[in-house]
Amino acid sequence: PQSPIMIQGPMPIEAEYFAALLDNVEQYSAGNAVFYSGYLNGYPVVVVKTGKGLENTAAATAIGISLYHPRIIINQGTSGGHDPALAVGDIVLGSRSVNASNFKTPHREAGAGSKPLDWIPMDLMASQGSAGEGDSAAEAQKLRYYEGDKELISLAMSLQQKHSSGKVVKGTIGSGNFWNNELDRIAWLHQHLGTSVEEMESASAAQIAHAYGVPFLAIRILSNNITNHGKYDPTTAKACQQFVKVVVEAYIRRL
Ligand code: 5AD
Repeated sequence: PQSPIMIQGPMPIEAEYFAALLDNVEQYSAGNAVFYSGYLNGYPVVVVKTGKGLENTAAATAIGISLYHPRIIINQGTSGGHDPALAVGDIVLGSRSVNASNFKTPHREAGAGSKPLDWIPMDLMASQGSAGEGDSAAEAQKLRYYEGDKELISLAMSLQQKHSSGKVVKGTIGSGNFWNNELDRIAWLHQHLGTSVEEMESASAAQIAHAYGVPFLAIRILSNNITNHGKYDPTTAKACQQFVKVVVEAYIRRL
């Protein structure tokens, strides 16, 4: 049988529109994930409602790979802007994604407070030894970026005109179990990690897809951007899935 295309979305509004596009759907639940396997234009596609956040996404990705052996994984959904040049409704293709919540704090004495802008990146994949203290600590004090699949990125870029409610750009996606509303924190992440947007899933899915050698791309629409007063708009979740559909249909035609 043909290996399917896997499309992940965290929340109902980020997965159910795409699931409803499929023919002959079979639904399967595992843990917090719901898998909808069916056909788009006759080709097998599995839509996964992963649940929100890093843990649900990592589990759904590992389970999804071992159950369905997808040829590619696209993680898509909403995000919050870190780049004032991006408007609500614009789409970021993750040329890279990074876990933007893995930090080691420098030592501070009792009563000296907490200074998040001083925190040091911590790479949990850097070594088999300690990622905290000791010889391997220096090696672990760096950012780990996962690259998006280049063929999928160029395919999606070639289709950018099909996204009518905004632009489509390449960028860096920062993931963490967070929703940042501190503009100085957002500016720090934008400057030090190069983030275009933040959300709670892509880097987690990318890490697991990379471990299994499955080509991966995150496609994230801005539903909000407080750096330029872009108000939260939940209807962007559907617009993102509509663009992902265009990309997946073009991918299928090329097979
Ligand atoms: N910060 C964090 N997550 C966001 N999401 C949308 N905007 C943001 C933001 N500014 C996404 C997350 C999560 C859900 C709350 O929406 O990926 O799934």
